[in-house]
Amino acid sequence: MVQPNQNQPVANPATTAAPVRRAFSVLLLIAGAFLGIAGAAVVGLLVIGPLMLSHRQDLPFERLYGNYAVGLLSRLNAPNVPNPVADNPRALRAGRDAYTGSCAVCHGADGRGKGFLGMATYPPATDLTSHDAREKSDGQLFWIIKNGLSFTGMPAFGDQYDDQTIWAMVSYIRALQNRQAPAPAAVPTPTMDQLDRANPDGTAVERGAAVYFAQGCHTCHGPTGNAPGELALRRGGGETAEAIREGRRGMPAYSPGQISDTDLADLIAYIDSVAPARNGEGGFFEGRGGDRE
Ligand code: HEC
Ligand code: HEC
Repeated sequence: MVQPNQNQPVANPATTAAPVRRAFSVLLLIAGAFLGIAGAAVVGLLVIGPLMLSHRQDLPFERLYGNYAVGLLSRLNAPNVPNPVADNPRALRAGRDAYTGSCAVCHGADGRGKGFLGMATYPPATDLTSHDAREKSDGQLFWIIKNGLSFTGMPAFGDQYDDQTIWAMVSYIRALQNRQAPAPAAVPTPTMDQLDRANPDGTAVERGAAVYFAQGCHTCHGPTGNAPGELALRRGGGETAEAIREGRRGMPAYSPGQISDTDLADLIAYIDSVAPARNGEGGFFEGRGGDRE
């Protein structure tokens, strides 16, 4: 005689459905766990990783992760095109001027990452002559300069420099890597007397001097627009305003958000008070913009 087994489920619809339901919830659990793990990985990558980058230690993992993240990001987004201004000597000089004025503070004039602010960021500014930087394509460097690396101290320059000048900086970085860079222009540094002219509450010229030094115009043009060669400034309001608002090959553009119209007027007053007149010979302007490259 067969005893009905207490543990054997009796065949009725409610109990046969139970194991199926149980299997289903186990599946759900597994799926949930996977989602959880994937979610944690995403959070880890996107949130914790950069957070780890932002604290001030240089663990090997962090450098590795930094290089990895920078490489991945720039590879995913970089335009897959060759540098349109490669082998163009004029672009190389514009790239040098822009680099020396805007990048050397962090990456150093020679690209080795030892600019005086470069050590103050975490992670410190990259040695642009390193193996990692050499390995990156021109498109990757272009993308990084244009968009910046928001989880590091690397600013985006896309609002300030046109694409041509960004490519020109890529050329200059390559030249630094190959030790074939043209020497940076010998831009005079400001004296105490010159800095003393800057006064945000003074006359138009004094206010203009304050804007001029605060915006770092002197890093490229010298304290009185007295940098050598093409970087020398000339007096003449219209051209000056246009150059500042629109930028030039090798020079950033400054929006009204960065230099207000009032500041611009003061700035022009300062430049007009220190720079020699345009003499109409056009020696400086003839070559501007690189049309004759
Ligand atoms: C305020 C400091 C600062 C300035 C100014 C700055 N950078 Fe950077 N740059 C950084 C930091 C910080 C990093 C990222 C370091 C890291 O990821 O380990 C970086 C990374 C880079 C990289 C990526 C290199 C690589 O191989 O990962 C390039 C290329 C670069 N900068 C070019 C430039 C150029 C060109 C300029 C000027 C237009 C510039 N930088 C201005 C701080 C700066
Ligand atoms: C990163 C370097 C750099 C910075 C910073 C810079 N410039 Fe320039 N500037 C240049 C270059 C390069 C040119 C173009 C030279 C050429 O045409 O060949 C130029 C051109 C000019 C011109 C046109 C030439 C002339 O004499 O009319 C003016 C004006 C000028 N800059 C003013 C300024 C002022 C004002 C600032 C600060 C708000 C400034 N620049 C910041 C690099 C720079």
